[in-house]
Amino acid sequence: MVTFKIDGKEIKAKEGQTVLDAATENNIEIPTLCVNESVLPYGACRLCMVDVTKGKRKRTVTSCAYEVAEGIEVDTKSEKVIKIRRMVIELLLARCPESEEIRQMAEKLGVTTTRFKPDEDGDACILCALCTRACREVVGKSAISLINRGTEREAALPFYDEADDCIACGSCVYICPTGAIKMEDKAGTRTISWPNCSQEFKLKACSACGFYFAPEKQLEFMAAESGVELEKLEICMSCRP
Ligand code: SF4
Ligand code: FES
Repeated sequence: MVTFKIDGKEIKAKEGQTVLDAATENNIEIPTLCVNESVLPYGACRLCMVDVTKGKRKRTVTSCAYEVAEGIEVDTKSEKVIKIRRMVIELLLARCPESEEIRQMAEKLGVTTTRFKPDEDGDACILCALCTRACREVVGKSAISLINRGTEREAALPFYDEADDCIACGSCVYICPTGAIKMEDKAGTRTISWPNCSQEFKLKACSACGFYFAPEKQLEFMAAESGVELEKLEICMSCRP
């Protein structure tokens, strides 16, 4: 175990634990937009910044990626970190002015307007990379990635084209914190729409009741990964014995 101070309070944490996790376990709230326990930390949104003093050295770090260490002192509410968080959320407000999640986070941080020029492309992507990390680390695919640079950077299929690697599982949709990725199932087809591209996938009808219940590509992937015969997977949960 490691003993350290957070906001003046001495706490114990497991070795290797992040400052964010240790804070959360001790009911100390740090704002975040790009963490999820299913994927590795990435440090994209910068909302979770905290001050860390180690010996004579003081640094401002992302608490979601910074590991606890014996004797460090963490300040989650210093003037500097509050200023950084407000600046970050102002930038995000300008990037996704329509995003309800971003507006709510801004309100929580005491920010109501942004001094930056609002982005006019209308998508709600904050470039947190949760979707790309879930695709790679949880599903084991790399169907989408963050492409381009600067203001053109976005989550998309390679070359905005059809992705052979995508199995239409929807993990990116479920994990996206701002609803920037949409999914619709209609008449045997699943459509997934990323900020600037979309793709259609065939859904499989249950061999017992005929309900379109899962993407064909996802079932094929599951059969290949598990070694279970494809026919055995082509039956929906309600009809399974
Ligand atoms: S699409 Fe959603 S999950 Fe992916 S980077 Fe953008 S905000 Fe994050
Ligand atoms: S939560 Fe740490 S950088 Fe986003």
